[in-house]
Amino acid sequence: MNSSTSFHVPEDLDVSKLPKHVAIIMDGNGRWAEKRLMNRIRGHEAGAETVRTIVRTSREIGIPILTLYAFSTENWQRPKVEVATLMVLLKKFIDSERNEMIKNNIRLNAIGELANLPADVRESLGRTMDLTKSNDGMVINLALSYGGRAEIASMVKIIAEKARSGEIDPVSITEEIIADHLYTAGMPDPDLLIRTSGEMRISNFLLWQIAYTEIFVTDTLWPDFGSDEFISILIDFQRRERRFGNVV
Ligand code: FPP
Repeated sequence: MNSSTSFHVPEDLDVSKLPKHVAIIMDGNGRWAEKRLMNRIRGHEAGAETVRTIVRTSREIGIPILTLYAFSTENWQRPKVEVATLMVLLKKFIDSERNEMIKNNIRLNAIGELANLPADVRESLGRTMDLTKSNDGMVINLALSYGGRAEIASMVKIIAEKARSGEIDPVSITEEIIADHLYTAGMPDPDLLIRTSGEMRISNFLLWQIAYTEIFVTDTLWPDFGSDEFISILIDFQRRERRFGNVV
C-alpha cells in the first residue's frame, strides 16, 4: 500500500453506488507459476503482491468491506512446505502492511478457525487486529483456516448452547440471529463475489452470506489480476439488476 495510485478510475464507475462488501476467491497462483515453469511458491509470492494492489485500490475507491479467501480449511492438506510458505507470506503481509493499515484507517479482521494457525501468525494477526480495531475507513476480512460449513457448524453449536441454557428460545430463532452468530456478525452480506482463474465453484466460501450475492468469475489467474480488471468488474456489477427474488 505504499505506492501511489497506479490506475485511472474511469468515469463509468459510479463511486456513489459501489458494493458495500466485495468477497474474492483468489485462485490460480499455482497455475500461474506452473505456466512459467516456476515453483508454485513463486505463484503465492506473486499472489501476495496482487493482494496488496487490490487492497490499495479498494481503499482508494472506497469499498467499505473486502473479504479475501486466503487459506481454506482444505488447504491444510497441501504439501507441508506449501502450507508453511503460505503462513510465512501471510505473516509477512500482516507485518508489512500494519503501519499502512493504521495510516489509512483500515481495520484488519480475520474469519476462520484461527486457533489452528501457527502461534507466530496468530500473534501478528492479533496485534494488528488490536491496533486497528477502532479504524472505520475500511475493513479487510482475511479468511484464514476458513470453511463455510465449519462456520455454520460453529454457529449451530453456539446457538444450541444458548438454547440449552435458556438464553435463546428455539422457536424465536431467526435468520438475523443466525447471521449474528457467524464470523461475519454485524457485517452486511457480500454484494459481489469475484473468483479468479475460471473455476465455476464456491469452494465452501461464505455459504450462508452469499445467498443473493452477484457472482463474477474471470479466467485471469490471481497473480495477473489487477486494478483495471477489478474496476471493470465493479462497473459490470453496477449494470446488473439485483432483484433479491422479487420482480421489478
Ligand atoms: C490459490 O492458488 C490461492 C491460495 C491457496 C490462497 C491465496 C494466497 C495468496 C494470495 C498469498 C498470500 C495471501 C495473503 C493474504 C498475503 P492455488 O494454489 O489454488 O492455484 P491453482 O489452483 O492454480 O493451483
